[in-house]
Amino acid sequence: MKKISRRNFLDDSTKAVAVASSFPLYSFAGDKKPASPIKMKLAMVGTGYRGTYTWGKPVIQAYKDQVEMVALCDINPKRMEAARSIMNINAKMYEAKDFDLMIQETKPDMVIVTTTDCFHEKYILRALELGCNVLSEKPLAITAEQCQRIADAENLTGKKVFVGFNVRHGNESIEMKKILSSGELGKIIAIEYQECLNTQHGADYYRRWHGKKKYSGSLLLHKASHQFDLINWLIDAEPVDVQAIGKLAYYGHNNSYRGRNCRTCAFTQKCKFYWDMAKNSGAMQMYGNCEDVDGYYRDGCVWDNEIDSYDTQSVQVNYDNGTQMSYTMNTFLPFEGQFICFSGEYGRLEVRLNAIQPWKVEGGIEFRLTKDTETSRYWIINSSSGGHGGADERLKDMIFLPGTPDPLGSKAGSRAGIMSSLIGIAARKSIETGQKVKIADLVTFPSAWKG
Ligand SMILES: NC(=O)c1ccc[n+]([C@@H]2O[C@H](COP(=O)([O-])OP(=O)(O)OC[C@H]3O[C@@H](n4cnc5c(N)ncnc54)[C@H](O)[C@@H]3O)[C@@H](O)[C@H]2O)c1
Repeated sequence: MKKISRRNFLDDSTKAVAVASSFPLYSFAGDKKPASPIKMKLAMVGTGYRGTYTWGKPVIQAYKDQVEMVALCDINPKRMEAARSIMNINAKMYEAKDFDLMIQETKPDMVIVTTTDCFHEKYILRALELGCNVLSEKPLAITAEQCQRIADAENLTGKKVFVGFNVRHGNESIEMKKILSSGELGKIIAIEYQECLNTQHGADYYRRWHGKKKYSGSLLLHKASHQFDLINWLIDAEPVDVQAIGKLAYYGHNNSYRGRNCRTCAFTQKCKFYWDMAKNSGAMQMYGNCEDVDGYYRDGCVWDNEIDSYDTQSVQVNYDNGTQMSYTMNTFLPFEGQFICFSGEYGRLEVRLNAIQPWKVEGGIEFRLTKDTETSRYWIINSSSGGHGGADERLKDMIFLPGTPDPLGSKAGSRAGIMSSLIGIAARKSIETGQKVKIADLVTFPSAWKG
């Protein structure tokens, strides 16, 4: 197949209309952040990669007039020290067992929870109970019981939980939201969402704690919580029931040899997933040099027999507005990308995001909108610069700059976090039992709680 450039793609399609997407529907503050008379005091629990490089260093630099990082907490003091040095701050450091003491001594306004997924809930509850607001990374929780306790605690304490759903803030998400909210397609009847992860990004999950359900809840929680939240938000609906199939067909036990981790492995010559972490000074600083403390190997074996997070999954969701969604994720593919289709009463919107572009165009995110018998409209948008295509920066403005406009309702609270987690939890349950799972059977929300 001939490779088509962006220009040819547009020219080839005589009916195509290139739509110049205008994005300051809500803009982010860039360097012009208004100084705040009282700085928001932040404490972070879980000082790994995401904590340090998304919510730590860049926040401290970009929001220096609005926030102050007063304390750090982690189970691994060496990693915490590395994180503090990377952030270039003098924040007090606390062992995980001294989390309460940290809150009492440093009195943060907000606790940032960036631990391994399975521990989010424990810190969210304690932070709320001790009078702090919370910013938690996704997935908010990985079991139905954790979801219930978070809803109950937020309801009781009156404090607020925000969730780091940066995907909502990407240019393509904003574009989809504007189209779907405009009513141009009418009621959305069905959604197909295909997610392809390649043998770099996809495989990297299986090197780390993410490959084990007890830590991540499976990629249906760890990864797909982003995608489930995106759809929930785009169609402004909540899930009613979920059916799923899934299996581990490529990683984990699906190989004849294995080691503990790449740097000590006997099969480096023949394993296509061999990664010499020693050549990556950043990874050595944050993980390699700290592994004697907790025995966590960042270059763990993708063939580890204990891996049990599915690499092949297909999930069907019915929503309370009548929309049905079909979502698939495979994590061992030769290329990376997403294909999202919305079929509505009056037409269909298709969105193709390819991190690697093997199919049609050289860059950008392809949109195609077709109404009834009209010819399709095609256009391409690009990501912005910054973390996750500029999404991380927009999300941070909403969290750290009170009063930032939110015309699309992009700021996610605990209810959104719980709803996206519940789809993953129900999907896991459905895979394990073979049954359809009703969301209402998993949690009972406090009557006055909005989340
Ligand atoms: N929104 C996104 O795009 C995005 C991207 C990456 C990661 N994340 C999320 O960020 C979180 C952290 O991911 P990461 O990649 O930084 O992982 P990581 O392994 O680098 O960091 C996790 C940190 O938590 C610490 N920790 C583990 N158990 C703990 C406990 N009981 N108490 C205190 N600290 C504990 C670890 O020592 C480590 O420092 C995860 O929840 C992940 O899902 C979100």
